[in-house]
Amino acid sequence: MLVDRYNRVHNYLRISLTDNCNFRCFYCMPEEHYSFMPKASLMQAAEIEKLAKVFVELGVDKIRLTGGEPLVRKDAPQIIEALGKLPVSLTLTTNGVRLHEFKNVLRSAGVASLNISLDTLDADKFQLITRRDNFQTVMNNIDLMLEMGVYVKVNVVVMAGLNDQEIIDFIAWTKHKPVHVRFIEFMPFAGNKWTSNKVFTWQQILEKASEAFSFLPLKNEKNATAKGYIVPGHAGTFAVISTMSAPFCDTCNRMRLTADGKLKNCLFAKDETDLLTAMRSGENVEDLIRKNIKAKAAALGGQFPETFETLNSEEVINRSMIAIGG
Ligand code: GTP
Ligand code: 5AD
Ligand code: SF4
Repeated sequence: MLVDRYNRVHNYLRISLTDNCNFRCFYCMPEEHYSFMPKASLMQAAEIEKLAKVFVELGVDKIRLTGGEPLVRKDAPQIIEALGKLPVSLTLTTNGVRLHEFKNVLRSAGVASLNISLDTLDADKFQLITRRDNFQTVMNNIDLMLEMGVYVKVNVVVMAGLNDQEIIDFIAWTKHKPVHVRFIEFMPFAGNKWTSNKVFTWQQILEKASEAFSFLPLKNEKNATAKGYIVPGHAGTFAVISTMSAPFCDTCNRMRLTADGKLKNCLFAKDETDLLTAMRSGENVEDLIRKNIKAKAAALGGQFPETFETLNSEEVINRSMIAIGG
């Protein structure tokens, strides 16, 4: 078991397959020119499998594949197949645009649940945010996944003045569509021009929701990032991921492996442990993993002040979101 200084058991590994993406969401990619990681520095499929097995030996029972966009990687099908054979619940966070091409592989690997990023229900705004014209494809793929019986969570990064007016539309969407919409407070990452006044908080989200709906809180899973709600009678649910206004670090069970094989014990960790180089040179990665987890900060990588309103995002030492994988 991987236990840190605060007795948190780490059983959930997020593996980024690539920092590349077929979308260009401004809140995820730095505005300045971004150089994608060179291929030689990426974990190869066999290396991902080997490292995943080490983590499984150490108690990991849930693996999420992330990106950039995980499904742009050419050997994504082979990686999904291989990890599907491990005794873990395997899942992905994706922008959804290629899901139709992965129908069979997702089914055969036993992927029962998917998180799909979609920040707007308006095709024009979708183009503005992602700089791509794929709104309808993503919507069709959400339907396709639902038809296949996949449990679909929809991630909506809420940004004040950009899409906060769509909260009600998203909740209305859950009336007949059995999707689980998760409103995410906008977080600071390298180059994403975060300022505290762009955060639309958990409280503001609930206030907005209550203008149109009455809803009840749901019982949340032990290590959940999201606080769930349901409008009685709706087929789906909604939730809030309140990293900025109400962090949930005390129940954190998550670790991240970047596409270049670095272990991050927190989304906001500034220190990373290079597992890939160590494995390539025959070192014992188990010891490195234990040491990394032991050093995990109590909350938010130890980099945030008491309240996010006083945070200067320039002072947070971290990668850009696209290079972490969420
Ligand atoms: P589930 O496994 O379905 O609960 O999903 P998840 O929330 O762990 O993962 P997902 O990739 O869908 O991420 C949704 C949002 O939650 C993103 O904005 C992530 O950055 C954020 N998130 C995921 N894990 C963590 C975490 O450990 N800490 C914080 N603060 N946010 C996280
Ligand atoms: N703040 C909050 N969530 C973000 N994501 C990407 N960038 C940010 C950000 N700055 C979300 C994506 C994706 C998930 C992995 O992280 O929407 O669903
Ligand atoms: Fe790509 Fe997701 Fe980042 Fe958008 S949010 S650029 S889909 S990785």
